[in-house]
Amino acid sequence: MKSQAQINAQWSGSARIYDDIIQDELASFRVEGWTKLIRAQVDFKPGMKCLDTGCGPGFFSVILSKAGFDVTAIDGAEKMREKADKNFKKYDVDVELFDMDAHYLAFEDDTFDLVVSRNVTHALRDYRRVYSEWRRVLKPGGVLLIFDANWHLAWSDPDMREESRKRYKECIDKYGSDYNGNTFYDDDIFDKIHKDVEEHQLAGITRPDFDFGVMKGVGFDEISIDRDITKELWDDKEKLIFGNTPMFMIRGVKGPEHLIEVCMAGCCKRNGAEKILKAIKNKLGIEPGKNTTADGNIKAVESGCLWLCKQPAVISVDGKLYTDMNQETAVDVVEGLAAHQQNTQ
Ligand SMILES: C[S@@+](CC[C@H](N)C(=O)[O-])C[C@H]1O[C@@H](n2cnc3c(N)ncnc32)[C@H](O)[C@@H]1O
Ligand code: FES
Repeated sequence: MKSQAQINAQWSGSARIYDDIIQDELASFRVEGWTKLIRAQVDFKPGMKCLDTGCGPGFFSVILSKAGFDVTAIDGAEKMREKADKNFKKYDVDVELFDMDAHYLAFEDDTFDLVVSRNVTHALRDYRRVYSEWRRVLKPGGVLLIFDANWHLAWSDPDMREESRKRYKECIDKYGSDYNGNTFYDDDIFDKIHKDVEEHQLAGITRPDFDFGVMKGVGFDEISIDRDITKELWDDKEKLIFGNTPMFMIRGVKGPEHLIEVCMAGCCKRNGAEKILKAIKNKLGIEPGKNTTADGNIKAVESGCLWLCKQPAVISVDGKLYTDMNQETAVDVVEGLAAHQQNTQ
């Protein structure tokens, strides 16, 4: 496997081409499309803190700053950071930019409301490490958005590769150039762009299914997948040349640290479960009409039958069942969580 220094050097080598691509993007319909898509994934409030990981020349950082996010950006490749720095000045946005590796983030836990990355994750060294770092720096309730494609399959799967070759030729015939500005078809150029990466650690693996498993494994909640987001984000040329590897989106939420469930089924409901849930929310300072404490750390919700069916009602705190809220242990647990809430407010 390549070292991070080799990966960074490789990305630095693509900085000029990437910068040309994002200048076109910044002058196109894509700004509105991406902004709309990303803002729809969070309960947007101006000043929300966003981390753009692997920012490259800074497309997301620029458009999300303009859309009202407070953006921090990181990238490991020096030349990409140079382009990003220039673009932040050119587009007059105030983005803090760091030389940082996504595997080892130097941010405190619970810092960001949103973490975004585009076209970064196909070349990571350790997926579990990066996704758990992204989860760590998110606030409870914060959202991770990964945008990427099965680029590696177009390099490593023979059938996909042939389809990519066909598309590449068709694109040059129709538009006079490929996506990187090459104006004629040549097997060598094609093979250079679609490098043979049979040794790639994702060879034979299909995304975003793979990512779903890793994200679940590191503790993300509410994970959802959109396998093709290109309809309103790619133009016809991009759809032609890369249509067999459409860009996908994975969204995951950093859930609360603590989950309290109160059984509202059959006998528990008849035996006062609603009152118990109300009392718990009250104790924890959860506002009426909400389920989560203001810091997002504790969630208290109704649940279906927890299969104990004892009186007066069954509750679960972080998966441990209590059969009677009047028992000292259960009361103590909620008291303990409430005391922690007061200390952190
Ligand atoms: C294809 S570019 C995408 C840039 C940008 N996100 C965009 O969509 O325009 C990938 C970027 O991710 C950065 N990157 C890849 N792995 C990284 C890591 N482990 N830590 C920080 N940056 C990384 C690269 O240096 C490069 O700038
Ligand atoms: S009805 Fe509440 S645990 Fe079964």
